[in-house]
Amino acid sequence: MSLHIGAAKGEIAKRVLLPGDPLRAKAIAENFLSDTHCYNKIRNMFGYTGSYKGERVSVQGSGMGIPSLSIYVNELLNEYDVKQLIRVGTCGSIQQSIGIGDIILAISGSTHSNTNNLRFPNGNYAPAADFFLLRSAYDIAVNMGIEPIIGNVFSSDLFYNDDPGHWEKWAEYGVLALEMETSGLYTLAAKYHAQALTILTVSDHLLSGEQATAEMRETQFMEMAKIALEL
Ligand code: HPA
Repeated sequence: MSLHIGAAKGEIAKRVLLPGDPLRAKAIAENFLSDTHCYNKIRNMFGYTGSYKGERVSVQGSGMGIPSLSIYVNELLNEYDVKQLIRVGTCGSIQQSIGIGDIILAISGSTHSNTNNLRFPNGNYAPAADFFLLRSAYDIAVNMGIEPIIGNVFSSDLFYNDDPGHWEKWAEYGVLALEMETSGLYTLAAKYHAQALTILTVSDHLLSGEQATAEMRETQFMEMAKIALEL
């Protein structure tokens, strides 16, 4: 048992899906896994282990933002010997060409978070996805009839930013979308020599103000979870 995860050693699989919302973890476990059991209820940040097509897999809620995700990811990698982490989440598009429902595979995570300045006071670390997970996720998505968009995403510490144009410079430099966790996930995976990938569906659009309906979010989320499980 670790501080925030109430599982015994061996109760968590080597491969873990990481939705931000613990109820999404429950939904993935209930819809896709067999022989499932819940190993964590601390803070209602549910975690489940089960089987998908004969492979053992876990699904753990991470909460929102780099600090929350970092607590769970640190403990998964350091205390439960997890080797693969796949974040499944939503994002806000900052590119005209990327619309609601599109799927993004994050090759890297830019950020204004101070977390990596604390780790690397003399430079800027570039958190990147695992190439083999990224390549496999792309192939799996294409086989499912989905053409994912691959690129840099921005992990924000502020969902509500005082500056309405805060994302424009990032968009100009090719960043695809805003979310809140990837930079932290990729950095920690590198530290512990694990593989990580973020898969996102676009739930809102910062240029048009458009938002996915609850029903769209549900369907798209499950499609994305399927790509992650097939990995
Ligand atoms: N900003 C940050 N995180 C997000 C957003 C956003 O607009 N949409 C979904 N996650």
